[in-house]
Amino acid sequence: MVIARTRSLQYVYVLVTVLLFLVHIKPSLHFKHGCIEREKKALLRMKDDLIDDYGVLSSWGREEDKRDCCKWRGIACSNRTGHVIEIALTYEKPLRGKISNSLLELRHLTYLDLSGNDYGVTQFPADNNGSLSKLRHLDLHNANFAGAVSSLLANLSSLVYLDLSKNHFHDLENIDWLLGLSSLSYLDLGGNSLVRPSDWLQIVNKLPQLETLSLSSCFSGDGIPLTLSPINYSSSLTTLDISYNNLVIPSIYPWLSNISRYIEKLTLSSNLLQGSTLAEIGNMISLQELYLSNATIVGPIPKSFGNMSDLHFLDLSDNNISVPLPDLIQNLSGYTEKSLVTLRLDGNQLTDDTHVSQPNIDGRYNQEDKDEFWKWFYAGMGLGFTVGFWEYRALYC
Ligand SMILES: *[C@@H]1O[C@H](CO)[C@@H](O)[C@H](O)[C@H]1NC(C)=O
Ligand SMILES: *[C@@H]1O[C@H](CO)[C@@H](O)[C@H](O)[C@H]1NC(C)=O
Ligand SMILES: *[C@@H]1O[C@H](CO)[C@@H](O)[C@H](O)[C@H]1NC(C)=O
Ligand SMILES: *[C@@H]1O[C@H](CO)[C@@H](O)[C@H](O)[C@H]1NC(C)=O
Ligand SMILES: *[C@@H]1O[C@H](CO)[C@@H](O)[C@H](O)[C@H]1NC(C)=O
Ligand SMILES: *[C@@H]1O[C@H](CO)[C@@H](O)[C@H](O)[C@H]1NC(C)=O
Ligand SMILES: *[C@@H]1O[C@H](CO)[C@@H](O)[C@H](O)[C@H]1NC(C)=O
Ligand SMILES: *[C@@H]1O[C@H](CO)[C@@H](O)[C@H](O)[C@H]1NC(C)=O
Ligand SMILES: *[C@@H]1O[C@H](CO)[C@@H](O)[C@H](O)[C@H]1NC(C)=O
Repeated sequence: MVIARTRSLQYVYVLVTVLLFLVHIKPSLHFKHGCIEREKKALLRMKDDLIDDYGVLSSWGREEDKRDCCKWRGIACSNRTGHVIEIALTYEKPLRGKISNSLLELRHLTYLDLSGNDYGVTQFPADNNGSLSKLRHLDLHNANFAGAVSSLLANLSSLVYLDLSKNHFHDLENIDWLLGLSSLSYLDLGGNSLVRPSDWLQIVNKLPQLETLSLSSCFSGDGIPLTLSPINYSSSLTTLDISYNNLVIPSIYPWLSNISRYIEKLTLSSNLLQGSTLAEIGNMISLQELYLSNATIVGPIPKSFGNMSDLHFLDLSDNNISVPLPDLIQNLSGYTEKSLVTLRLDGNQLTDDTHVSQPNIDGRYNQEDKDEFWKWFYAGMGLGFTVGFWEYRALYC
């Protein structure tokens, strides 16, 4: 009995000693790793191809005191293996030049952010060897890349986050490259030219993890109609932006209100909503932000909008809404009244009881009109909206 206990006590000692040893040596292991010479050379070759007008990469160099590339600005290495796993070349001051093929030697990258720089309509390196297959996050937003990228993307099956907005890629139209990216949660293709908008919207059926889909300024044409097949489950989408596409939206209201139980932010600005009742949009009661500016709305704003109990931002600016303002406010009361913080109505033809042609409530109008409006407004409105309009006033008047 006693012996057994001593034995187990010995085990405990051994265990504790080993643990102490591990805890003790871990930092030195980490330190010893520093960076891997081959990867450091690849990074230096990348730097050679970049034009660093503002010295943002001054910590990258061949000098002795810059030996450890894991300490360079924008670089992160794995603590366990020492491999470079993250590159974030995005600073207030942009880089120029191009991205060297040496990037492909960094085969352990999981995170790559090259956004906001000017790569002068050059190509992103063509990866024929699956070098970047571990990437989970790829951000090339606003980087002036051009050329082909879809065959590279098609193989990045671990991608969770993909932002290609504001570039000049020419081979994204066809949807096929996207279908293998089943882990995708964030997708922004804004400003790339795509075709067949219906196909693109229906990717929400095929990408089960997708939470954000942004296809702003992707389609050109005059009043493109949409035909979508019914969706019979709730996707995980929380944010949808299809603004600036000139799409005819009313036909997809049923689809939109079915698309997700969780949708929080919907941007339909600069599309065609004319001639519709908008009532079904009001059924999307999880919405927190709704952007409907420049969308050919003439009114009315249906009562169902008052049912959106989490709505805190509603943008109806630059439409031709010509209903009486008090009635509009009346329709927004209900649940929405309590949550709404910002309401934009500038650029409309709202009327009220006393002025048949009450001017827009925006900064471009003269002080007298505005004073008249506010006098009326504070007399007529409940506290909830007063608070809301204060904010509105502060922001836009
Ligand atoms: C690596 O270790 C550093 C400090 O020891 C820590 O700040 C960092 O979060 C760790 N990184 C990872 C990816 O575990
Ligand atoms: C994609 O991956 C497959 C399998 O790993 C490989 O055979 C193919 O060449 C890759 N294609 C590209 C364009 O990287
Ligand atoms: C592709 O990768 C293999 C090892 O993974 C390597 O031996 C080969 O040189 C690579 N080819 C190219 C063109 O990079
Ligand atoms: C909406 O969902 C219902 C039930 O889940 C389904 O029957 C209907 O076809 C869907 N409509 C659209 C337009 O997706
Ligand atoms: C809708 O449900 C049916 C049967 O459950 C299924 O066959 C079909 O693929 C589903 N459609 C979508 C768009 O998920
Ligand atoms: C308004 O939307 C139309 C398309 O419906 C677009 O052509 C126009 O540029 C937009 N105007 C503004 C100011 O955004
Ligand atoms: C208020 O909502 C009702 C019912 O949805 C509608 O008939 C009416 O025109 C709306 N009023 C305004 C000013 O939009
Ligand atoms: C608001 O929601 C309730 C409960 O879902 C519903 O009964 C009512 O018809 C809705 N009101 C409007 C105007 O859509
Ligand atoms: C708004 O109405 C005015 C006058 O009816 C018209 O000239 C103008 O084109 C309309 N604007 C929009 C965006 O529909």
